[in-house]
Amino acid sequence: MSASKRRIVIYPGSFDPVTNGHLDIVRRASVLFDHVVVAVSDNSLKHPLFSLLERRDMLVLALKPEIKSGKVSVDSFSGLLVRYAVRKGAVAVIRGLRAVSDFEYEFQMALMNRRQECRVETVFLMPDERYTYLSSSLLKDILRMGGDVDGFIPPVLIPKLRRKISKTPLP
Ligand code: PNS
Repeated sequence: MSASKRRIVIYPGSFDPVTNGHLDIVRRASVLFDHVVVAVSDNSLKHPLFSLLERRDMLVLALKPEIKSGKVSVDSFSGLLVRYAVRKGAVAVIRGLRAVSDFEYEFQMALMNRRQECRVETVFLMPDERYTYLSSSLLKDILRMGGDVDGFIPPVLIPKLRRKISKTPLP
């Protein structure tokens, strides 16, 4: 398929850090679209635990086979998401919906994005039920307190996360 016909989708987020819930969404999106760009937001208003580079590196590690197959790439962006999506030639943005509580914020964001740029649709995908109660913030709390995170993040990332969390004092 020629590059111009490829249906590209952006999966944006903070990914601080990536969880198995995010990875589940990437895999679902890659069945529906020709190429998924996982885009880490460099949003200075949020205060992520991990630097932009660390968040990107973790995604690259976690998505090695998908990146190798050409279905997925990892990137970062700053500024408006819809402008980035247009620059990338994307037809849509993916957002994961875990529960009704996610809906209000996501709905607001999708409509505001559409108002800014009508060429970019938002597509909501639901992760596997195993991940409906999983979030990056809860994961960081569990790690901080030495809890069990098996099944929530790729094993290859666990030592990195533990090291970072042990070195970072609580805000
Ligand atoms: O993983 P998150 O933190 O829920 O992701 C939120 C994100 C990065 C998708 C959102 O904050 C965003 O799109 N930021 C880019 C700036 C922007 O376009 N803001 C207007 C959204 S209506």
